[in-house]
Amino acid sequence: MSLDIVILAAGQGTRMRSALPKVLHPVAGASMLGHVIHSARQLKPQGIHVVIGHGAEVVRERLAAGDLNFVIQAEQLGTGHAVAQAVPALSANTVLILYGDVPLIEVSTLQRLLERSGPDQVALLTVELNDPTGYGRIVRNTDGLVQAIVEHKDASAAQKLIREGNTGILAVPGARLGEWLSRLSNDNVQGEYYLTDVIAMAVGDGLVVATEQPLDAMEVQGANDRIQLAELERHYQVRTARRLMAQGVSLRDPARFDVRGEVTVGRDVQIDINVILEGQVVIEDNVQIGPNCVIRNSTLCNGAIVKANSHLDGALLGEGSDCGPYARLRPGSVLEARAHVGNFVELKNAHLGEDAKAGHLSYLGDTDIGARANIGAGTITCNYDGVNKHRTLIGADVFIGSNNALVAPVDISKGATTAAGSTITQNVGSGELAVARSRQRNIAGWQRPEKAPNT
Ligand code: UD1
Ligand code: CA
Repeated sequence: MSLDIVILAAGQGTRMRSALPKVLHPVAGASMLGHVIHSARQLKPQGIHVVIGHGAEVVRERLAAGDLNFVIQAEQLGTGHAVAQAVPALSANTVLILYGDVPLIEVSTLQRLLERSGPDQVALLTVELNDPTGYGRIVRNTDGLVQAIVEHKDASAAQKLIREGNTGILAVPGARLGEWLSRLSNDNVQGEYYLTDVIAMAVGDGLVVATEQPLDAMEVQGANDRIQLAELERHYQVRTARRLMAQGVSLRDPARFDVRGEVTVGRDVQIDINVILEGQVVIEDNVQIGPNCVIRNSTLCNGAIVKANSHLDGALLGEGSDCGPYARLRPGSVLEARAHVGNFVELKNAHLGEDAKAGHLSYLGDTDIGARANIGAGTITCNYDGVNKHRTLIGADVFIGSNNALVAPVDISKGATTAAGSTITQNVGSGELAVARSRQRNIAGWQRPEKAPNT
């Protein structure tokens, strides 16, 4: 079966009260439309056609990708008109219609729907609603067969009692779609070309309309305003939290945990409250993450510990290494096995060898630190001369005293020691002690200045 997917994303979204086109509003860190495209791709269609209108340029710019065909709908004359704009680009046996503002639709639901479609069968996703106000109603005959969809505004009092609502998502035979759409009229209460009218046409042409339901009604929920957007966000987060717990993660409180990207997890992982995971995050077995951590595009190897209030971005924590509380690991931070980074330490492009330690109050940028080296409290690498960045090389077993300024480029060889308070501007040889501070002078009998008496 070949598949084309059409995603409707041309609407304005007035109720968002936003300069940003509605479909670009984010759920879990990605635009709603981005989520729909991500799900669409998993169905391996031959084409993904995104119908854009309001904010078309911004949408196209933000989501452009080689596998997407953007189609402009200059005027929003209805969902049927929107799909019709894509028809010239369609050639598959089956056309699946999705919506850029319905981001939580599950791939498995769409697969079930597609299984119900065929050359002589339309597959329609419907949902049983307690309050179907606003939805198109699924009209069935006495045998229970779908006959038509009637929009809420066009429905009779009796039809308004129907609680089976149209989700808008459907799969139709490609060979029929263009002809049906060309027959649509806008002679209805809203003066729109309704996609939903193809259902009655299909029945009229002798096709069967099969229906399928999502497992969870939130899958087909759209976001028209920021309240609904927040509901989708929460739902997504709860769903993600449950999936991770099922895979072996203990979440201290699943309601205080957010994923904005893709996370892979091992077993016996413990995550405390208010942790945010962003981008691509890999968490291996036995990792512990303390409260209030933001971890972005990072890998935490077996047994690594991230203590409270740490920020990681582009970091790699080796097996049994730890950082924090209050550590800031910027892109290119690598802790080898059992390396330790303590409180108020900032790393950037810094590689700490096995068992190396930087316990307190440091800035370590553009540096290679050897195994077992110890970086004293308050040490900084002066990696920037105002124009260029330079590297600091620190060998294995080096001991950097407290409050050192290491002026790069500088090379401190294996086993060297630097005295506390040193400003290291020259290389230090293996096994040497570098003392680079002024000598202490004690002045005996020193008289402190005194305040002049009040006159
Ligand atoms: C539509 C369905 C209704 C269903 C409901 C579910 C129709 C006629 N009705 O109604 O049966 O219960 O969805 O939410 O299809 N869009 C365009 N171009 C247009 C018009 C709409 O791209 O010209 C997009 C909108 O941006 C939106 C989606 O299509 O994402 C749905 O359009 P909307 O006008 O909101 O349809 P509903 O009235 O909600
Ligand atoms: Ca709608």
